[in-house]
Amino acid sequence: MMSPEIKMADGLANVAVSLGDRSYTISIGPGLTSKVGAKIKSLRPRARVAIVTDENVAAAQGAGLVDSLGAAGIEHTVITVPPGEATKRFEMVGHVVDRLLDARIERGDLVLAHGGGVVGDLTGFAAGILRRGVGFVQMPTTLLSQVDSSVGGKTGVNARQGKNLIGVFHQPVAVFADTTALETLPEREFLAGYAEVAKIGLLGDASFMGWLDQHRASIFAGGEDRTEAIARACAAKAGIVQRDETEQGERALLNLGHTFGHGLEAVTGYSSRLLHGEGVAIGMAMAFRYSVRKGLCPQDEAQRAIAHLQATGLPTAVAQIPGPALLARDIMTAIRQDKKVQRGALTFILARGIGQAFIARDVDPTDVEEFIAAEISA
Ligand SMILES: NC(=O)c1ccc[n+]([C@@H]2O[C@H](COP(=O)([O-])OP(=O)(O)OC[C@H]3O[C@@H](n4cnc5c(N)ncnc54)[C@H](O)[C@@H]3O)[C@@H](O)[C@H]2O)c1
Ligand SMILES: [Zn+2]
Repeated sequence: MMSPEIKMADGLANVAVSLGDRSYTISIGPGLTSKVGAKIKSLRPRARVAIVTDENVAAAQGAGLVDSLGAAGIEHTVITVPPGEATKRFEMVGHVVDRLLDARIERGDLVLAHGGGVVGDLTGFAAGILRRGVGFVQMPTTLLSQVDSSVGGKTGVNARQGKNLIGVFHQPVAVFADTTALETLPEREFLAGYAEVAKIGLLGDASFMGWLDQHRASIFAGGEDRTEAIARACAAKAGIVQRDETEQGERALLNLGHTFGHGLEAVTGYSSRLLHGEGVAIGMAMAFRYSVRKGLCPQDEAQRAIAHLQATGLPTAVAQIPGPALLARDIMTAIRQDKKVQRGALTFILARGIGQAFIARDVDPTDVEEFIAAEISA
């Protein structure tokens, strides 16, 4: 099954995700928020809507959404959670579910996640377990969530033992990505999200990577190239999800840079020292360098991949993380905790070149730790 086509209509890019009775469309484009009320009305004419959002998004983007639902005559309520990764925890699921029950959200109603990946993952999980599953709509407002977390149905929260260890697969009924919402997103967050766009090219599509190389400046400036970049990244991810919804194989390629990245996020306490996308950028650079070390990837290919990330301003080395020096042993301990570790053997996504990632099982932990130590002292 190929990746879905991008279909343009009314200035919006539409990507159809085909998953049988769980199929849905991702719509992407400027000014979409004002049309969401009407779109939801035609999708589910009788549904009431519970918006779940965080304080930053509510302040920057909330009014437009509430107006749009109001104009379409949709009964709605707003549940606001604190911003930040710390919100992605089990207690917060209880809080959100409790508020959804108070609002009498039922099976025919909709829960609408309005925010970044934190709000999307938390809200999708809450919707997935409320009354054994109510419909949910994703309105991602960060670049990361528009290209990555809102597509594919993985939802959940973090545990003390590691990231994303508690969750369910729960596909949205629709995704509305308003590219105008990105205008209030802090620049650092936009850049971090771009790491997931580059990831799509680096893992499986050298021609997309070439296009990104040519259009990088205009993607960062906004406009049509930005919409196209988001749509192409969504379509590529949707293609992978269609072929492997529950990550039995190919979907694991989307974890390129994430095993190293999660290790780095863990040792920096999931704090503002290192945003998720920054960890992924460093992790992808490490995956390419590790692939070179293992004789799997030519040096110049790895160098081109890393140079692309560097040109955007993303970090590509552990030493670029601000604050106290990190220890290879601590990073390794965190990597072992990661859910991708099976019976002591490490699974990494490595690359034979740009667009040629593959799943490497049975990677030797001792060798990886030596590599990390060499990376830190380099
Ligand atoms: N489910 C998946 O498949 C998947 C995939 C990738 C990442 N994730 C998860 O996504 C999370 C990261 O998501 P994120 O990077 O979107 O972070 P985030 O949700 O924390 O948002 C980043 C910051 O930007 C603010 N913000 C969001 N949109 C804004 C806007 N339009 N204007 C102003 N401020 C805005 C938020 O309040 C927050 O402070 C991580 O928890 C990660 O594990 C999930
Ligand atoms: Zn990610």
